[in-house]
Amino acid sequence: MRDILVAGNWKMNGSSAANAELVAGIVGGVPAGDGFSLLVCPPFPYVAAVVEATAGSPVSVGAQNVSEHDKGAYTGEVSPGMLKDLGCEYVIVGHSERRSLYNETSGQVAAKFVAAQAAGLTPILCVGESLEEREAGTTEAVVDEQLDAVLDAAGIAAFGTAVIAYEPVWAIGTGMTATPEQAQDVHRHIRERLAGHDGTVAAKVQILYGGSMKGENAAGLLGQADIDGGLIGGASLKAADFLAIAQAAAND
Ligand code: 13P
Repeated sequence: MRDILVAGNWKMNGSSAANAELVAGIVGGVPAGDGFSLLVCPPFPYVAAVVEATAGSPVSVGAQNVSEHDKGAYTGEVSPGMLKDLGCEYVIVGHSERRSLYNETSGQVAAKFVAAQAAGLTPILCVGESLEEREAGTTEAVVDEQLDAVLDAAGIAAFGTAVIAYEPVWAIGTGMTATPEQAQDVHRHIRERLAGHDGTVAAKVQILYGGSMKGENAAGLLGQADIDGGLIGGASLKAADFLAIAQAAAND
């Protein structure tokens, strides 16, 4: 069985004081049990402090974005090696906010995925459709395009050390969660598409759900066969809310 990963994407929220309180709350309240792990992804300036605050705890740290370049004249960018140097283990690539607000293409996301892995980071590849795309019946085609760009660039074996997050854009920050069945349908599709390349890799890869996940709906989502965790925005900003999802993972 695959372990569950409960990952908090703090987005552009927090402060030194707020983060210290949040991390202390999470670290102090990790549910008992096994078969799940916890991850927090703070904004870049706080990564080092959060790595320090979680040291010796079961909570890992990731970043929310990364450059596809190693180093050089890329003002404002952060390289995969820098994140690794700071103690990051994971990095989110291709979040829909990056794709839509910052025009990241699937090709660029694939380059970030490859660069992250080359530096020893585990990429969390986000895929997902907009409301218009879902209503037009193109959900699978959209997800396939996003997935195939990475398969083409990195190859199927790369998914042996990667995580996928299915995040329907219409469910992000809207309070409108995909039903467990809606999410499971897409998760199954993603796993089957990977299985078309390599069944062993497909069976092992964690596929997280993201989009208004919270304590109240976590058990139903995590109970689905192909849902292996959550990528959580709003509900990751309060320790009690995040821990409620962690508890659902521990009970699963
Ligand atoms: P919300 O949980 O706030 O809907 O955000 C989901 C998300 O975008 C996580 O990356």
